[in-house]
Amino acid sequence: MNNPKKMLVSTPIYYVNDVPHLGHAYTTFIADMLKKYHALRGKDVFLLTGTDEHGQKIALSAAKHHQSPLEYASQISQAFKDQWDYFNIDYNHFIRTTDQAHQQAVQKAFEIMHAQGDIYKGKYQGSYCVSCESFVASHALCPDCGKETIILEEESYFFRLSHYQERLLDFYKQHPKAILPLFRRNEVVRFIEQGLHDLSITRTSFEWGIKLPASLHDPKHVVYVWLDALLNYVSALGYASLDTNKMAYFDHAIHVVGKDILRFHAIYWPAFLMSLELPLFEHLCVHGWWTIEGVKMSKSIGNVLCAKQEAQKYGEENLRYFLLREVPLGQDGDFSSLALIRRSNADLSNTLGNLIQRLSGMAIQYFQGQLKSTQVLEHYGTSYAHMQALLESLDASMLEMQPHKYLEDLWKVFEGANVLIAKEEPWNLIKTDKEKTMSLLVLIATLLAKSAFYLYPIMPTSAQKLATLLGLSLDSPNFKACMQKDYVLSPLTLVKNPPLFPKLELSKEPPTTPAVATQPTPPKLLKIGDFSKLEIKVGTIIQAKSVPKSDKLLQLEVDFGDRVRVILSGIAQHYQPHDLIGKQVCALLNLEPRKMMGMLSEGMILSASDAGMLKLIAPLEPMPNGSTIS
Ligand code: MSP
Repeated sequence: MNNPKKMLVSTPIYYVNDVPHLGHAYTTFIADMLKKYHALRGKDVFLLTGTDEHGQKIALSAAKHHQSPLEYASQISQAFKDQWDYFNIDYNHFIRTTDQAHQQAVQKAFEIMHAQGDIYKGKYQGSYCVSCESFVASHALCPDCGKETIILEEESYFFRLSHYQERLLDFYKQHPKAILPLFRRNEVVRFIEQGLHDLSITRTSFEWGIKLPASLHDPKHVVYVWLDALLNYVSALGYASLDTNKMAYFDHAIHVVGKDILRFHAIYWPAFLMSLELPLFEHLCVHGWWTIEGVKMSKSIGNVLCAKQEAQKYGEENLRYFLLREVPLGQDGDFSSLALIRRSNADLSNTLGNLIQRLSGMAIQYFQGQLKSTQVLEHYGTSYAHMQALLESLDASMLEMQPHKYLEDLWKVFEGANVLIAKEEPWNLIKTDKEKTMSLLVLIATLLAKSAFYLYPIMPTSAQKLATLLGLSLDSPNFKACMQKDYVLSPLTLVKNPPLFPKLELSKEPPTTPAVATQPTPPKLLKIGDFSKLEIKVGTIIQAKSVPKSDKLLQLEVDFGDRVRVILSGIAQHYQPHDLIGKQVCALLNLEPRKMMGMLSEGMILSASDAGMLKLIAPLEPMPNGSTIS
């Protein structure tokens, strides 16, 4: 049954007490990205999503809306489906836990676990968080979501979770990458090591759930919503009907989950699977949470963002790109229009968009759009090999579930291509060496063709448009051919095309400097001696942190060779601290030290800025720390 080509990628199934929002979209974009990435590499990927419709929380929400739970669930389930259709999510199945086949699968699993001796009847006494649908160890407030808990005292069936403690620890020891990013795995292992209690897996105080199998003759119990929900990952693959063909997808499963539901997936789920003698997942891919302009998304605050509305404002793919690029998967991130616009304009319009425009512009101007060369490797073999190595290194980032790093490195290819154009000056080269100019353009086209495949999982439509411009289609056989080390895209025809990534409006931004009416003053020229008064040096950032209570400042520790200085820099809206570590910068050092937010800054980091965008300045090639700028 083990078919290495088949794999399952799943999203969590979404609760239907909430309309789809940006957080749900993020989870789903990650799953869709993983499907597209692996499918291009020839895998047969089954992408599963759906809705979680049972339980006390849904029953209460339905009652509040004066609807039956099923009526209520059906409406919201449809809203999720519509949302994923709008975003062209390539799911293979949309499961609802109210589906017949799912209910049968849950009953079948319950029967098997019972027959294994893993289920016994008892009484639950303790606290319960309805919002998380979780049993919590005697707290007035839920330790996970902070909401008030209720006291439960009811007859319940229990799952012998405690029996699985050692097997779970063994599993995580033998599969160190089962949970990514790694720090989440360590968290889970520590939790298991503290000792596991048996888990209550049925409820009797409400009815909105799946009944126990008839063989147990206990009609007042319904299955605990997390046991019900987790089983969707196999019920959708025909667990009840013994569809071995589909169940084969489960041999290689990646579950994408948010950090809030890690425990359910990393402890309960593998224990249930062990009891059912089913294979365990290959990876749990655990992402962080998005806040909105620094505030947690919440219905009561009224700041819940609808992904579709944001996409309509900024573009579907700009949104996908931003969410997947802006923060390392696993970390929390903050969503703001400003950050999205800046990221889109800097990366998509300026870097990639500009490169595409330059290529087609020059191809049309110098060669009527007809490019053909057999001398790319001869003229540009070293640059090509360097870019190829960069592209090949991207896979490791995706397999480690680090799409932000994958994209950061993909952009190094675009940046490198832009730098190569600046260095080669094709506008001059064309006058003396037509053949070499042609090779340069064919090299750029080749790099863009390869990159289109890498871009596809994150921005499928834009990647396809880029490929079409280059006369390619993004399918698995083409991918193989195009990825060859010495592949050259030649001949090809380029035509005039509208910009793929138009700039987004910055007009809604708050002005960064107060608008003061000024009289134009004639420029004052400096003597060279004036410039030499400035002590500007190259340094490497060795530490970067946010400054508490400041949304503008970052605190940087910069190594200038002879000493390390602490410099506060107003770049927090342009750079994430973790992206800066190891980067070289240039700084003005003989500036009077200044206190900001109670901290001393010993210099000024130099940057270039334009229309709300900002980029740090660094030497083109690495230089020893302490090198002087003159
Ligand atoms: N129904 C359960 C999952 C059962 S899976 C067997 C559930 N549903 S949920 O609708 O509450 O959450 C689904 C996913 O949305 C989770 O992965 C959660 O982390 C994600 N998000 C909800 N709000 C979020 C943010 N603000 N930011 C990022 N993702 C968040 O839990």
